[in-house]
Formats: sequence, structure tokens, C-alpha cells
Amino acid sequence: MNLATRSLFFALLTLLFMNAVTAGLPPPRVKADNAMIVSASRLADEAGLAILKRGGNAVDAAVAVGFTLAVVYPEAGNIGGGGFMIYRKASGSATALDFREKAPKSATRAMYLDAAGKVTGETVNGHRASGVPGTVAGLLRALDEFGTMKRAEVLRPAIRFAEEGFVVDSAFADDLEEYRDSLRLFEATKAIFFPGGKELHAGDTLRQPDLAKTLHRIAKDGAKEFYEGATAGMIVDEMSRGHGEITLEDLKAYTTVRRAPLTGTYRGFQILSMPPPSSGGACLLALLNLVEPSDLAKMGFHSEKSAHIMAEAMKRVFADRSKYLGDPDHQRIPLRTLVSKEYARSRLLEIDPVRATESKSIHPGTLPGREKNHTTNYVVQDKKGNVVSVTYTLNDLFGSKVAVQGAGFLMNDQMDDFSAKPGVANMYGLVGGEANAIAPEKRPLSSMTPTLVLKNGTPVLVLGARGGSKIITAVFQTIVNVIDYKMTVDEAVRAPRFHHQWLPDTLFYEPGCFPNSVLQSMAAHGNVMWESPHSLGEVEALSFDPRKRTLTGGPDDREPGTALGY
Ligand code: DON
Repeated sequence: MNLATRSLFFALLTLLFMNAVTAGLPPPRVKADNAMIVSASRLADEAGLAILKRGGNAVDAAVAVGFTLAVVYPEAGNIGGGGFMIYRKASGSATALDFREKAPKSATRAMYLDAAGKVTGETVNGHRASGVPGTVAGLLRALDEFGTMKRAEVLRPAIRFAEEGFVVDSAFADDLEEYRDSLRLFEATKAIFFPGGKELHAGDTLRQPDLAKTLHRIAKDGAKEFYEGATAGMIVDEMSRGHGEITLEDLKAYTTVRRAPLTGTYRGFQILSMPPPSSGGACLLALLNLVEPSDLAKMGFHSEKSAHIMAEAMKRVFADRSKYLGDPDHQRIPLRTLVSKEYARSRLLEIDPVRATESKSIHPGTLPGREKNHTTNYVVQDKKGNVVSVTYTLNDLFGSKVAVQGAGFLMNDQMDDFSAKPGVANMYGLVGGEANAIAPEKRPLSSMTPTLVLKNGTPVLVLGARGGSKIITAVFQTIVNVIDYKMTVDEAVRAPRFHHQWLPDTLFYEPGCFPNSVLQSMAAHGNVMWESPHSLGEVEALSFDPRKRTLTGGPDDREPGTALGY
């Protein structure tokens, strides 16, 4: 089968799978004995699996999946964005790789305020929205330090998909249609996604020859090419065309950081997650600490009692996030306190056992951030038991919408994750202040939460999510579903979710999340309940049963994610 036929075949499979989903049938559970990949794209799963079958390890596969997603899932997969990776070797050592974007050196605290002091739209669309991208440096550092294969080998599938094309599915065609007007504003973007001036429809083949050339250059000369070579030159030219901020000096100065994973415990399980500049790990541990003293299993799944304690925990954790969390390389963060069980105990004293505590605003709002903004998470376990969870992003769907002319890829709009003005919400409705104010070379605070859950030193759950602020609560609920409610990983991911982020003071829930009696009673106890028309985050996860030594995939049919193993 050639590449285009193969892509068509998988597009049909996806269609069948979607039909099963809409018919209300759970998709078949994916199990494997050796290795597993769960991502947002079947083509990316396949690329990674081929690497694993050729003897590559989990990092080789994760790097191949990352570059492949940049081609076949270009609305979120990227080389113009940034992200985080948690990697744990089967032998026990673990690392958190930070390849988050950095603010350009010219960035200033008030750079997105107009003369009246109002935040402009420039954090989201256009050349000024981008931070200095980290993905290429991050993926290639991971490959250098933890992988076993050559760059050319892990980049090969991505290059082939860029050169030969892949078949557009209906989700991507819909995204292109929804964002048509903003994408068409930028010539280079238009040329990629509206080839020959025409709109792409499901079943069409999208080729990206400029991106293929960029990936070839990266395969040949490594990250240096992207940050100092021809690609860097193209980024700088693109920036000057649109009055962007990123200079060659910014690109040359970009560095990734290896950090110690943030660790904690929950009911005898060990949790390893992403430290700042992501808020993900800290918020996840704080949430787990706050609910640990409650017997959630006894209270019942989505009963008023369990939902109440979980929602009250969410409010407090997001309130703390807004004040205390930011880039640890730029200010001190009271991290140890925030993730300590003692602090959780003191916060618990504030929670009324029945009544909701009011946040500042009592108005029901529309869910901050349409669920269309994009990021993607994927997880890999190889046959030796090495595990990887990666979340990377352009931030919004198609990032800043600006593609780099001649280089064929989109730039991020990660500057929106800073607090452009204290107290003013960003696209996810998140507010912040001093700790997340804009400063030169600072990394914006993230919610991305690539996470590992271990039992007796063995990873039993590898997960992460997309969905902006909802990432944190989605990862939290998936862990609770597995540990407290004894769900299998696919059930845990599929179960309806709810979300509270302190401001607005609204408890968002997915359709079917709560029985009517619970909804009514929660409203009577002071909760502003709001059924979200959009999904509350998308999780990609896998679990490992150390007794049976089997892997199970937990793809999220909200995305839809796919799992593949052998
Ligand atoms: O880093 C963050 O928290 C955001 N830039 C993530 C964006 C996201 O998850 C959008 N996805 N649906």
C-alpha cells in the first residue's frame, strides 16, 4: 500500500470508529504485551510503533511521534511551539524535560496593552504572539540524551508524510474551515493550507514540501540548523515581515532545561509530574492531597459528596495557581508548601462539608476558551518498560496562524499564557499576576501535565491531556477514576468530567456527568452549574498491569485519540 492509500485506509477506519462512538458503543479496548503508543493520530502511532519494532526505545518513538504529529496534525503538532516531556527509564531514573517557549529578549510587562491600558488581541493572532519555539531543541535533546537512534531515522516518517502527503480527515477539514478567515490573513499560511487557493476537504491529500525541506535540514544538521541556520533565517525574515519580536539572538539563546520531576503520593501510589513553569504537576498534587482524606469510593462516583469535595479542591488550587505559580527561573515559588499534605490539611479546614464556597464572581460564564484550542499529548511505553509522556502545543488551534514563509510550519501564540495584565483573564479564563507577568526570556506558566503514576516503583499509568486549564482537572479525574473507582484506563478516560477553575465561579460539566438529582442538589448548595457544550480536556493514557504484564490503551474518543500496540 502506498502512503496515500494507507492514509485513506486509516481515515476510513477512523470513520468507522467514529460511527461506533456516535452509536454509543465503546470502541474496542486496545491491549498489548510489549509496547504501546497512544496519541491523537493513527499515522503518528504507526510511525512510533515501527520505530519500537525496529528496536528503538520509548524516547526514539516519542521523538518520531512528535515530528510526525507536526506534519499530520499541524493544528497542534508542531515544530514552532513548545512543551514538556516526562521520561522514566525502566531502571528507575526519571527526568522532566522543559522545552517550553521563552519570551523574546525585547518582551516587556506591558507589551500587549494599548494606550488605554487594555489587553490587545496580539497575544493570540499574528507575529507578536509567539514565544521562541522549543520543540526542535526539546525533541532532539531527548533523542541525544535518552534515545538510541539516528536523527534521520526518527525523522523519516515525518519527512515522508510531508513530501508524499497524507489524507485530510474530516476533523482537520472542519478546523480549517472554522479558522479559514484568520489563516487566510497570512500569505505563507494560506499557501500551505489552501493549496492553489482551494479549500481542503476530507479525503484530499495535503503535501507540505517546504516543511519536508525544513525537516530534511533538521535531520542533517540538528537543532543548530533550526536555531542558527537557514530555518532560523526564515523565522527572522518572517518576524520582520509582520513586526514580530523574535530575533536571531533570541533563537540562538534558546535553551531547554532538564528538571527534576515533581513527586508526590496518593493512596500509596507515587506520582511524577511536570514542575514549573508548568502549573500542571503542582496543581495535580495539590488536588490529590486535598481529596486524599475523603473516601471518594464510598461517597460514590459523581455523587454530590465526591463532586463537592473535588470541586472545592479545584477552586482553591486554581486560586493558588493564579498567585504563586510562574517561571521558577525568574522568581521564587513556594512549591514545597503548595504540594505538601500539611498545607492541604489547612486548606481543607476552609471547606464546608455541604455548601459551595463562593469564588469572587458568582455569574455563570461561558466556558473560558473554546474547546477548539489545541495542544496534544501522547504516551509511549516500550517493551523494556521505559515510559514517556509528552504534551506539546502551539497553544491555540494553528497557534498564531502565522506560518514561516519558505519553512512550512506554524508559529505558536504562547505569549497568551502570560498574564498580560494582572487580573485580566487569558484565552482560558485564567487570571494571574506578578508571578506570571511578562519578562524577557521568561517562560509563560503552563497547565500541561504529563504524568506518571507508579505502584511499588513500577509505572502503572502514563497520561497527560490537552485542553488549557482543563488539562489539570482532566488528569486529576482520570487518576481518581483509576485509583478510587477502579476503572480500567479506557473507562477512566471516557468517563464524563467536570471542571472548576475558581474564576469564573462556575462548575462546568460534560453532558451525562451528573444525575439530575445531584445537579439540583449541588445548585441548591450554592454551586453555579453549567453544562459545557465542549469537552473538558482530552486525555491520552495507557496503563500497565505488572501482574499480567499487559498494557491497555486509554485513548480519548473526545479527540479522537488512537492507541496502537504489539
Ligand atoms: O500551556 C498551556 O497550558 C496551554 N498553552 C495549553 C493549550 C492547550 O491545551 C490547548 N488545547 N486544547
